[in-house]
Amino acid sequence: MPMPVSDPVQISCEEPAGDTRKHGLSDILPWFQALRRNPRTIGAILPASRALARAMARSAVKGRPESGIVEIGAGSGVVTDALVRLSDGRRPIKAVEANGALAARLQRRLPQVDVFAGMFEDVYEDIFAGLEGAVVVSSVPLFSLDEKSRAAYLAALGTAIERGWISRFVQYTYWPVLPWAEAKTLCGLRPKLITLNCPPAWIWCQDH
Ligand SMILES: C[S@@+](CC[C@H](N)C(=O)[O-])C[C@H]1O[C@@H](n2cnc3c(N)ncnc32)[C@H](O)[C@@H]1O
Repeated sequence: MPMPVSDPVQISCEEPAGDTRKHGLSDILPWFQALRRNPRTIGAILPASRALARAMARSAVKGRPESGIVEIGAGSGVVTDALVRLSDGRRPIKAVEANGALAARLQRRLPQVDVFAGMFEDVYEDIFAGLEGAVVVSSVPLFSLDEKSRAAYLAALGTAIERGWISRFVQYTYWPVLPWAEAKTLCGLRPKLITLNCPPAWIWCQDH
């Protein structure tokens, strides 16, 4: 059933462990290298803004104070930062990133996050080990992936949902349309628009 994602959630003021500082040039450079190497898998000209990252994190944790989090397509780590800040050590956070260099960088920067390097569809059984009813936060660029990659990603997600490993799914897109034909089983119908992002983005969220 679709759920609204717009209610505010208090952000903790305590400093979390790990490095969640503002991103600078040294953080953006590896992003552009990854983009040049594999534009369809990266699927965006810029990382998510802090506004989008915070909104994604709020949608993930609202009403789910203890659930573990799995972030798919962590990229530059800006959404991971927001998740760490908002969770404040109260829950396990795991992240998977297809680009090895970005994954390694994220693991160095945020040691409290369990980072997997690889495609979600190849490692998802390991990721969900020990997590029941996790919240999934996805930045995977469904519109730019080729057909085969998108099908593999969605099949893995569908299996994880069937097995009860996912209790909530949060995804952003750059288009105000359902991100894929089968979305009704995965996504809600009321997206939240985030204008402070380049380009503006819509957040979709559904509980299972
Ligand atoms: C649009 S980028 C956004 C990343 C992050 N939200 C940010 O702002 O930096 C999407 C990311 O998903 C990763 N990705 C794409 N398909 C993936 C998959 N099947 N499994 C894991 N990561 C994937 C890409 O490598 C890329 O870093």
